[in-house]
Amino acid sequence: MKTPLLAFLAAFAVCAISCSRPVSPQDTLLTNDKQIDEIIAQMSLEEKVEMLHSKTIMSSEGIPRLGIQEIRYADGPFGIREELGDGFRPLGWTTDSATYYPTGSALAATWSADLAYKYGEAMGTEARRRGKDVILGPAINIQRLPVGGRTYEYFSEDPILSSALAVGYTKGSQTAGTAVCVKHFAMNNQETNRGNFNVIIDPRQMREIYLKPFEAAVKEGGAMVVMPAYNKVNGYWCSENDELCNKILREEWGFNGFTVSDWGGTHSTLGAALGGLCVQMTGDNYLGPALIDSVRVGIVPEAIVDAKVREILRVRFAIEQVDPQNANIEAISQIEQQQVAYEVAQKSIVLLKNENKILPIDKQSVKKIAVVGINATASTANGGVGAGVKTIYEISPLQGIVNELGSDVEVLYAPGYKYIRPRGMWGPLTQDDGSQLDSQLLNEAIDAAQSADLVIFFAGTNKQIETEGSDRKNIMLPGGQDELIAHLASVNDNIVSVLISGGPCDLNEVVKYSTAVVQGWWNGLEGGHALADVLFGRIAPSGKLPFTFPIRLEDSPAYAMGNFPQKSIVGTDVFTAQYRQDITGGQSNQHRERPNPDAYYSEGSLVGYRWFDTKQMEVMFPFGHGLSYVDFDYSNISTDKKTYKAKDIISVSFDIKNVGQMEADEVVQLYVHRIDANVEWPQKELKAFERVNLQSGQTKNITLEIPVCDLSYWNEEIKDWSLEKCKIEILVGSSSRDIRLQTEIPII
Ligand code: BGC
Repeated sequence: MKTPLLAFLAAFAVCAISCSRPVSPQDTLLTNDKQIDEIIAQMSLEEKVEMLHSKTIMSSEGIPRLGIQEIRYADGPFGIREELGDGFRPLGWTTDSATYYPTGSALAATWSADLAYKYGEAMGTEARRRGKDVILGPAINIQRLPVGGRTYEYFSEDPILSSALAVGYTKGSQTAGTAVCVKHFAMNNQETNRGNFNVIIDPRQMREIYLKPFEAAVKEGGAMVVMPAYNKVNGYWCSENDELCNKILREEWGFNGFTVSDWGGTHSTLGAALGGLCVQMTGDNYLGPALIDSVRVGIVPEAIVDAKVREILRVRFAIEQVDPQNANIEAISQIEQQQVAYEVAQKSIVLLKNENKILPIDKQSVKKIAVVGINATASTANGGVGAGVKTIYEISPLQGIVNELGSDVEVLYAPGYKYIRPRGMWGPLTQDDGSQLDSQLLNEAIDAAQSADLVIFFAGTNKQIETEGSDRKNIMLPGGQDELIAHLASVNDNIVSVLISGGPCDLNEVVKYSTAVVQGWWNGLEGGHALADVLFGRIAPSGKLPFTFPIRLEDSPAYAMGNFPQKSIVGTDVFTAQYRQDITGGQSNQHRERPNPDAYYSEGSLVGYRWFDTKQMEVMFPFGHGLSYVDFDYSNISTDKKTYKAKDIISVSFDIKNVGQMEADEVVQLYVHRIDANVEWPQKELKAFERVNLQSGQTKNITLEIPVCDLSYWNEEIKDWSLEKCKIEILVGSSSRDIRLQTEIPII
């Protein structure tokens, strides 16, 4: 959707820009091409095609005759998934427990590419110990909808933050010797009608927002495998989308690895063969005998099959083969990996509100604490379908608190409400998660709160509500939690609320009744200890929100534009009908009401804070928000030059001082605002950030860099990136709405 203004501008005020980047890590995949081609020359068509579909639920064939192993996959993205048999049935091994790492949005809240690297490296190490070649992760789609079922798997509503984490995770994992499979390529931003929805999107927003993290993971991170998503984009299934998989991924970005469809996401022989898919997962009905026939009758050139085999073998050669006898002989989760999960959890926790400095809790001044809410004890490792982890252990929030307090402080626990009816994966869209207030539990919670000095209220969702396979109907706290906290507040003024969720919730009531509010996430096997460290002040909180908490769901862009939920139609859901017969029990869903497949992205690039800022709307907590137990002073902003040209790098320096009494990390954030641009832009956009560690009283001089070419926009007139010459305001701050320093520079 081009505006006439845009077309006009393209003619003179902008210049096409090609950013010079270092040599792509993709090139290392080409090292063995000569040998690979010699191997391909010896293979029969049948042997080649055998490599292009599943062998088991989590493997695809190698060339046994030549001693070339199959490719073994493992979910991902937050822990190496247990061993599975047919139909995702766990095999029930006793030796396949893994580290459960903080989920995607929690990792993103660290705003640390270094931690993402360590995380990927730790996961990659565990994968190797289990003999796995490819981790099915990271999951890097943009969080477009607050209700998105996979928001907890994905990183952020912002492409720059998502990209940095995707690159860190990818490099870490691949350095450990395990390939990543970045997923779900692309625009996989909803679970409603997930096997069938068709994203209608214009090229500019696609390039600038939704494809960015994939581009970064491939070009900078060197991701070796890419998973085309279940959905369609502009009318074509992702798994047979020539524009996405051939033109953009391979031709433009220089991807040399292979693609594997999401499980059940292949839809035709010809489409997949010509549209850039290498491996059908699962089954062989498209890239199996039918492909052999298509080659034999001349519809698909054998060179296309060869190209797919070549891409698979490049990855096979890049990843050392683990002899099955040497796999899984030691526990894959060891202390080093558990420590990484712990560190990420510590740095992910976000302090949203802290009145009267109620946090950190002074252990000396409290005798009795009431812990209320089932999320204080609920496991968050399992559930959520593919991204569940059979964890080696899990410290719950309650356990973390009890371990911290020992016998010095009495801890009362009251669940407050109970969980009754879990919702099925493909169940109807209702928000009733089955948890509800029960008068006995309510009264116990009120009694506990009344007798305690302080209440820690565990609010939030669970993995039946936030899950692959369905979106939430709304972001209200389920099970009467709003009512529960009102009761607690009527008997105790000191309420610290901790939100245990992967995505944003409606916090109007919680904020009203709480003196402090903390976002505690689904935070991995050491989550409970990490939370206690923050609540009791062993460390200062340092996480920052990777997405906006709206005041009302209806304020958020896709809702406000009427783009979601899509209106209902009646008919067969291709995904459920073709692939999930097992789950639907073979029942026909011919007459089932379901949403219209077409998902219009007409909010353009105004996703997340880009929307709220541009529309000047109040939010509950803004993108990038996160308080500390100390204050930071920002001062002395400067740039290294007065004006900048297309090939320059803008270097922005400033000082930051920890003026508090303890060591703390701050995440400094740099946004840009275009002052006199003619092209339409969001009010502000994140361009750089850094996590900085500061001792009490310490000052550091920080330099953040923005390549000028990163300020360009996708110009559909010339089908390339263009740079507009205009004045840029550089905004440096502690969140997207807490800007402390600013300066102006012209791009000439
Ligand atoms: C999910 C993928 C996952 C795959 C294998 C699919 O349902 O969408 O993210 O990797 O299953 O478990």
